[in-house]
Parts: sequence; C-alpha cells; structure tokens
Amino acid sequence: MSKQSLLGLVPSMGWNSWNTFTWDINEQLIREVADRFVTEGYKEAGYEYIVIDDCWSLKQRDAEGRLVPDPEKFPSGMKTLADYIHGKGLKFGMYSCVGTHTCAGYPGSFEHEFQDAEQLAEWGVDFLKYDYCFKPRHISGELLYKRMSLALKNCGRNILFSACNWGEDGVYQWIRESGAHMYRSTGDIQDNWDSIKKLALSQLDKQCYTGSFCHNDLDMLVVGMYGGSNNDFIGRIGGCSDVEYRTHFALWSLMGSPLMIGCDIRSANQATKDILLNPNLIAINQDPESRGAYRIKPEPQWFHTDEVFMLVRVLADGDLAIGFFNLSDGQREISLQFWDLGLPFASGFSLSLKDCWTNEELGVYTERFAPTVPAHDCLVVRAKLVRR
Ligand code: GLA
Repeated sequence: MSKQSLLGLVPSMGWNSWNTFTWDINEQLIREVADRFVTEGYKEAGYEYIVIDDCWSLKQRDAEGRLVPDPEKFPSGMKTLADYIHGKGLKFGMYSCVGTHTCAGYPGSFEHEFQDAEQLAEWGVDFLKYDYCFKPRHISGELLYKRMSLALKNCGRNILFSACNWGEDGVYQWIRESGAHMYRSTGDIQDNWDSIKKLALSQLDKQCYTGSFCHNDLDMLVVGMYGGSNNDFIGRIGGCSDVEYRTHFALWSLMGSPLMIGCDIRSANQATKDILLNPNLIAINQDPESRGAYRIKPEPQWFHTDEVFMLVRVLADGDLAIGFFNLSDGQREISLQFWDLGLPFASGFSLSLKDCWTNEELGVYTERFAPTVPAHDCLVVRAKLVRR
C-alpha cells in the first residue's frame, strides 16, 4: 500500500461555511456544526467533512511567510479546532486559492504551495478547497493544480484535494490527471430555482467526466437556506420551495456530485433534514462504482424540451437508479420505455420499482413506466430486475 490511503473513491459529503456565512465565520460556529453533525444524524448518514471556506486568515502572512488564522475568529487556533472535529469522528477542511489572493482578498497560495500544504498538515487538515481567483496570467491553472496536488500528496497527511476553477480553461481535459479528487465545474450557485436548473443542465452532457477519484462538483447545496445567506449574490432575495430543494438534492445525488451542505444546520427544519438525510438518495450518490448518469429524453419526440428528462445510473448491485425530472413550469407525464435502459421485452425481466423519497413499493412494471410529475418536481426510483 502507498503512503496515502485512497481518497475520493466516492463523492465527498460534508458542510461548507460559504453559502450561508461567507465572511462571518468563527470557531464557535464550526464547533456547533460539528456537534450537530453528531446529534442530528448527519454523521451517521455519511456527512464527514466540515469545511471552512474563504475569510479565515489575516490579510498578511507572518514574517516566515506562513498563513495566520484570524485570532478574533479563531482564537484557539486551527490545530485545536481540528482536534475538536476529529474528536467527534469527523474530518476538517480548509480553503485556499491558486492565485496571489483568495476571491475575498486574503492571501492565496501562489508560490507558497509546498509551505502551505505542510502548514495544513500540521494543523490536522483533511480537505483543501482550492479556488481560482487572482491567478497570474502567465501561468496555466492546470500547472497550479498540479503543483498543489503534489504538495498535498507529499505533506505527510491524507488531504482530499477539492479544485474549484468553475469549469474554466477546459478543466475536463486535465483535472483528473492533475491529481484533484473533485472539481467544481460551474460558477457559484445561488439560492434560487433558476440557478439550480442552470447548473444541472450545464453538466448533463459532462457525465463522462466524473467518477471515482475525480468527481464533478456542481457546487455546495442550497437545500434549506430559504434565502438566508449574508451574501446577497447567493441568496438574500432568493430561496426555493421544499419541492425545488428536493429536486436539487436528487439532481446532485444522481449526477454524482459531492454533497456539501450549505445551510445553517443548527436551525434546519424537518423538511430540510428529510431531504439531506434521505438514505436512499445518499446510497445512490455514494454507490461504490461511482458511475455517471445517462440521460433519456422522454417521448413523444415533438414534446422535447431540455427541462424534462430522465437520469439513469447503473448501480454496483445491478439495480438502476432512475430520476424522472420535470424542471419545466407545468405538470408533465414522463414516459420511460424499458427498451431505452437496455431491457427489451425478450429479456424476460420486468422492473420492481421503489420510490426513493417515500420508500413506497410502486409495483412491478413491464416495458414501460410513465409517472406524472408536477412542475419543478422529480420522482426517483430504485429499480430491481425481476424475472417474469
Ligand atoms: C469563489 C468560489 C466560492 C467561494 C468563494 C469564496 O467564488 O467559487 O465557492 O469559495 O470564492 O470567496
């Protein structure tokens, strides 16, 4: 076995401070999130990483060139915070940037990559989100991700490398080879339906660029935010309905995106918890084979719109995960011909369907299943092949 154990086999699950808190972060908040992970069932459901995003450091490095945590926000220091999180059986994530500065103007890791990686290892960090702002123009992003990847792989600690270049510069062509375990493929999510829809649609034809050890990251979840961000760009004027949040979670789950919660879980309501903790959806997302999903467009052909489609994931145990998505503004019947799954009538198999949201057994179907799906909603089923 190599000096590092395997990271990134399946998409990461965790929480990130940015969507709700942006600059308004401190160690008390992070500790409380860690506490809730344990007491509210997030840890048990598989959520693991607690990640501090931008705005955690001072604006200047120290005399030795080291990053310095802001003593007002993190008076006990990062090592103590990491110990606290590890004490709960969880993992600790932090944030930096390929450029001279982070997106919010704090020091970035450019030309400090190896020093910073060692520092993170010393603090006990397990995950690094690595952003793309203030990148010097004369150097390619590809090279800078390779640099940090090497630095992390040789810093003496297992640190999951989460690249965040928003899908720029042909990232699909080089990110896996660079060593990153996941990569942001889109611009920043906002807490509204249009943003969710736009991000998901933009990656439907990129499912061949996701899989074990390098997952396509559709950005942190906005489930449960209801417009409650201190950053106007993300959501003060936004917010979604629970149905929309549920569809958002289903899209991210089926498309194999990392599931990084972005709401304030300390005040999450039951609807939010039911979405984020749904074991069937999580099992699809965390399927050990981590295959991308394929899209089927429903019949009739003339009724085609990009906003109504099925996503199918081939699961390790031979089941299929099938999502019927209606992102359009009106109710739609979405008709699935099993032929399109590779299951002709002559196979002798039918499909036994279970509703992943409700756990309800929907029955055994042959050749065709055509649910009616309300606007902005989805039905996700786990389909088992049964002999007729
Ligand atoms: C970029 C990233 C966001 C967040 C901010 C922090 O916009 O895409 O996810 O990390 O920077 O400044």
